[in-house]
Amino acid sequence: MALDRNPDWWRDAAVYQIYPRSFADANGDGIGDLAGVTDRVPYLAKLGIDAVWLSPFYPSALADGGYDVDDYCDVDPRIGTLADFDRMVAALHQAGIRVIIDIVPNHSGSGHRWFKEALAAGPGSPARARYIFRDGLGPDRSQAPSDWRGMFGGSAWEPVGDGQFYLHLFDPAQPDWNLDNPEVRAEFVRVLRFWSDKGVDGFRVDVAQSLTKDLSGDPLPSAAEVEATPAGPGHPLYDRDEVHDIYKEWRRVFNSYDPPRAGVGEVWVDDPARRAIYAGPEELGQAFNFDLLLAGFGAADFRRVIERDLDLAAATGSSSTWVLSNHDVIRHASRYGLPAATAADQQERTTQGREWLIRRGRSPQEDTALGLARARAATLAIMALPGSVYLYQGEELGLREVTDLPDAARQDPAFFRSEGYEVGRDGARVPLPWAAGGPSLGFGPAAPHLPQPDWYKGYAVAVEDADPDSTLNLYRRALSVRRQLLARADVRESELVWLDAPEGAMQFRRGPWRCLVNFTNREGVALPGERPVLVSAKDLGDNRVLGEAATAWLLD
Ligand code: NOJ
Repeated sequence: MALDRNPDWWRDAAVYQIYPRSFADANGDGIGDLAGVTDRVPYLAKLGIDAVWLSPFYPSALADGGYDVDDYCDVDPRIGTLADFDRMVAALHQAGIRVIIDIVPNHSGSGHRWFKEALAAGPGSPARARYIFRDGLGPDRSQAPSDWRGMFGGSAWEPVGDGQFYLHLFDPAQPDWNLDNPEVRAEFVRVLRFWSDKGVDGFRVDVAQSLTKDLSGDPLPSAAEVEATPAGPGHPLYDRDEVHDIYKEWRRVFNSYDPPRAGVGEVWVDDPARRAIYAGPEELGQAFNFDLLLAGFGAADFRRVIERDLDLAAATGSSSTWVLSNHDVIRHASRYGLPAATAADQQERTTQGREWLIRRGRSPQEDTALGLARARAATLAIMALPGSVYLYQGEELGLREVTDLPDAARQDPAFFRSEGYEVGRDGARVPLPWAAGGPSLGFGPAAPHLPQPDWYKGYAVAVEDADPDSTLNLYRRALSVRRQLLARADVRESELVWLDAPEGAMQFRRGPWRCLVNFTNREGVALPGERPVLVSAKDLGDNRVLGEAATAWLLD
């Protein structure tokens, strides 16, 4: 299946996120690689996705899983070469699968040649102006310029030994770029062109809301003042208006290709209406909607998030994105299996709050059957919505979070910088199980870089492949039916219409395609007359009742 030139392919694409170091290891060093992706193209094609999004594969010290990029135009030798990249893209394109890559413009890795130059060049030099250096405070300039904390814990400023500090919103190995610097701006345009010329179809933009900053305050505002400021024009670090100039420039680059390159921003802002600006047609086209990650598993929560996002997408000419899992959050099969909120954890009732509980290892055991049933139901719900779905490797197997990794195996800087207070994100990044045996369950010939738990065997691709009711086969069927339905004019041209549903359920239609979700775990919801084309539950039973935590697709 050759790729068509449809410029709007991304608007309703099913995109599969690959975390390359944990997908498939072809060269046997325990780390997944690009050749591993190429080998698995038949698997991806059979899954029925439209595009892959690759998390960073660039040379990196791996201080933050590759989001510390030392060279934006090369491949980490542990993962492959540029020639491997070209082979991978060719194989994916040949299979009709587009390629989105991750671009990390807020910060580089500390091994980047420009950062090394900045350290060597000294205060006041043009090399330092590419990053965010400030003099230290106090008589000997030994105190950080402000009390800001990095996302992973600890100070956001690192001293370099000559009275200056550099800003790093994340790990000290991730110095923040100064995107007001014309050389840095030009460099990212060069990087976008480099990969676009190689045939990459789109870009996922890391920390998209933070690329422009206002550090003119003297003294800088305190962490408490920053914290109390909503993201937006008045915030020194997040969602400043000038950031949009960058994406307008990038859009001109994207549109100079045929078909135009696509963009999706990782935009964490407080106000969904401001997020939508990044997703406008003059900017990135899409921004991740993380609201379902933060919402509970319930009809009212889902409907509120869906309605708001569809309205915003319509108003801005964007298309919605639906996300339940990625490499940064607790896998949704685990999230949905955590105990329901009790009065005592009301303030931590959001998913995010409950994530911290599981991350801190306070609540490692979950109701795995309920979590998986809800995960399957939620996935079928988002796949029926207008817009695109972003799926994270392993969710198609129903994998849940690995909560009991030994501390010695952990890699996430969040674990180290918080001194173990947060266990971090490694539990969502354990290498995939492809087979029920072998040194790494088919991930590769050697032991994997993060240990796989014993229960992974039951979720191996080979095991699920043979089971018609497996989550893998559900995803395959769902993506295939979705693709067929989206090809129909009566679906494509119909707006989503909400239908009445019993208490605790949600129902909508798009033309003849109807989706009914029973969020409750108390009682079943009787299915209307038509035969469902797909049901998330393993067993519908004869009485045509959609049981607890289940979704049905019906065709009128
Ligand atoms: C968001 C990425 O998804 C996450 O994995 C990373 O740690 C931060 N940005 C910093 O790059």
